[in-house]
Amino acid sequence: MSQAHVTRRYRFCAAHRLHTDQLSPEENWAAFGKCNNPNGHGHNYVVLVTVKSGGEGQNIQDLDRLVNTSVVDRFDHRDLNCDPSFAELTTTGENIVKLIWEILEPQLPAGQLQKVGVIETRDNYFEYAGIQ
Ligand code: NI
Repeated sequence: MSQAHVTRRYRFCAAHRLHTDQLSPEENWAAFGKCNNPNGHGHNYVVLVTVKSGGEGQNIQDLDRLVNTSVVDRFDHRDLNCDPSFAELTTTGENIVKLIWEILEPQLPAGQLQKVGVIETRDNYFEYAGIQ
């Protein structure tokens, strides 16, 4: 039997700054460019969450509630650099998409979460599907 997947789209707006204390100011600039500007900047993040389809609408409502309460409410109109999860981690798209996976995966039935995607800018898309 083939398994269909469904992807839901969510949005949050947040500020961040790409910076690591492990690099010098010059190295930070070389690595992150204008995303290293001291006062930060914002993005309209789009989060795409792909799960195994349960075949009826109920699990979409559950998914919406979960993502809105544990991801959107946590990050919307915040400075991502101030989130405890990013205390020791740079707020790159790669790290953001992995964090969202790690937030959602344990709260969903085993094996239901298939993929998380994060659109950061027009040209930057990140995705994570767990440890393969
Ligand atoms: Ni940025």
